[in-house]
Amino acid sequence: MCGIVGYVGYREACPILLKGLKRLEYRGYDSAGVAVINKDGNLNVYKCKGKVSSLEEFLDGKDYSGNIGIAHTRWATHGEPSDRNAHPHYSQSGQIALIHNGIIENFRVLKDALIQNGYQFKSSTDSEVLVNLIEYIRKENDCCLSEAVRLALKQAVGAYAIAVIEKGNPDQIIAARQSSPMVIGIGEGEYFLSSDAASIIDYTNDFAYLNDGEIAIINKNKPLEIKTLENETSNLDIRHLELSISQLEKGGYPHFMLKEIHEQPNTIIDCIRGRINPDTAEVKLSGVELNKDKFLQAGRIIFVACGTSWHASLIGEHLIENLCRIPVEVEYASEFRYRNPIIRSNDVVIAVSQSGETADTLAAVELARKAGAFVYGICNAVGSSIARATDSGTYIHVGPEIGVASTKAFTGQVTVMAMIALAIAKEKGTISTERRQAIAKSLLELPQTIKKVLETDKMVADLSKIFTYAHNFIYLGRGYNYPTALEGALKLKEISYIHAEGYPAAEMKHGPIALIDAEMPTVVIAVPDHTYEKTVSNMEEIKARGGKIIAVIAQGDSHARKSADYTIEIPTTDECLMPVIVSIPLQLMAYYIAVYKGRNVDQPRNLAKSVTVE
Ligand code: G6P
Repeated sequence: MCGIVGYVGYREACPILLKGLKRLEYRGYDSAGVAVINKDGNLNVYKCKGKVSSLEEFLDGKDYSGNIGIAHTRWATHGEPSDRNAHPHYSQSGQIALIHNGIIENFRVLKDALIQNGYQFKSSTDSEVLVNLIEYIRKENDCCLSEAVRLALKQAVGAYAIAVIEKGNPDQIIAARQSSPMVIGIGEGEYFLSSDAASIIDYTNDFAYLNDGEIAIINKNKPLEIKTLENETSNLDIRHLELSISQLEKGGYPHFMLKEIHEQPNTIIDCIRGRINPDTAEVKLSGVELNKDKFLQAGRIIFVACGTSWHASLIGEHLIENLCRIPVEVEYASEFRYRNPIIRSNDVVIAVSQSGETADTLAAVELARKAGAFVYGICNAVGSSIARATDSGTYIHVGPEIGVASTKAFTGQVTVMAMIALAIAKEKGTISTERRQAIAKSLLELPQTIKKVLETDKMVADLSKIFTYAHNFIYLGRGYNYPTALEGALKLKEISYIHAEGYPAAEMKHGPIALIDAEMPTVVIAVPDHTYEKTVSNMEEIKARGGKIIAVIAQGDSHARKSADYTIEIPTTDECLMPVIVSIPLQLMAYYIAVYKGRNVDQPRNLAKSVTVE
């Protein structure tokens, strides 16, 4: 979703801004723009619909010099993607420029009041209202820019991360956040601003994180100042991040998604590193250990998440109910937050989010905390809003995920959930030591097992060619692999735009079977587990109706092979970890079908990597 980059210091701002915007492209956007103040004090704003590369072409031959600037990629919410709706927006007098992520919910009321005071608007955005409100307050109150921003934001209702610069003020950026990510990179005599630390990691490893309701006054060559909307000074929350540039590049792969699929043996190593003792096969998670009582006394665990993280949570439900015997519920964060849920003080709410910035999941965390529940986070992005808003948590540590379709984060989430379940099961004594250690051993072997399953790449690529022109797909699975079927279907629709639905295999008879014909391929997950035979029977039912079956089966399983038209044969691991293995050929299949269809795999239409608005 929208991305923000800013710079103030001694270097040329524009190259830094454009590079940062490119690093944020993965978030999904439809237009881009920059505002820079040049040495003569002119505030130049350039923006256009399309990619950052279109903006670069547009800048060609123009004066984009200057040591201070702000830049933006927009994902349309109010007003269509167009040049005029692109950010930065500037105030009526042309003195102030602003970029904004989020939604100002009461913009209509604010806009009407500004129109009454003689303001006219060039765009349909809520953001242009904010920049004019800042200008109006600045003039009316004869106050400085940061004060005008503060007073304006006190009137604004909604979510935002903003950055503001002003002609005649070439050393200063004012930034603020409310429910939308914003970090400030700290250099020597210079500052960088971004929605994601990864986009400015080339310049610094030290980042100040803004909290909700905080305003940053960023002056070149001066210490960073943070205050609240109530005008109180805030403490700086500075963190040192170690990220390597290679993690942010494609490393020889044609797309980030393929790179991230193939990274999984290593990301799982990073995910379990230091958490499972290879000698004793005991799991050690500090988040669980330090909060042992909360988990032991938990009457219920509630997962809140969106998208792929929600699918991983459904697997978490199986893991925790099976291994720890604690009742689990899995909620879409967007539904949970608005349906007046019953939350008890002995509930443990686990928020699952790759980005740690999903607006609905963050709101669900806040709701759960207010209701007195203990809130645990499973995030990937270190220092993200959800990671900071939760009481405790476990990072999945799979490195930055750039492809919009989540792959390595999903397998990392499931792996962390398995470790959490084992850690709790040990405390509760709900499974035998042998069973616990057997699962832990399988976890330790997971990277090797993933390496083997990745050997199906070429075979899956060939198979995908056959199905590239299908218009609909059904994915079936049971037990631990019902959520894997949902996730397989989601991957396909996200990046190939083919309609796909996931179902529990047994549920097929209650509707989806009516859709089966030779044109409708069905992907069936039929790996060894206690429902295996029943799933093979479902395959026969599909065949009997002329349906084509692609079955994901265990290597060498000649029984299931007989009931399928095509098979993807994979190595096996403990039943409870099979979703990690099964999901990988499904990721590959979605990837290759999308590539054969000529889709933009890493940045599919209309989707955003990090959904920071409702
Ligand atoms: C967006 C992304 C999905 C992701 C979902 C939740 O819709 O496109 O890939 O699963 O958000 O994101 P989170 O960062 O909270 O896991």
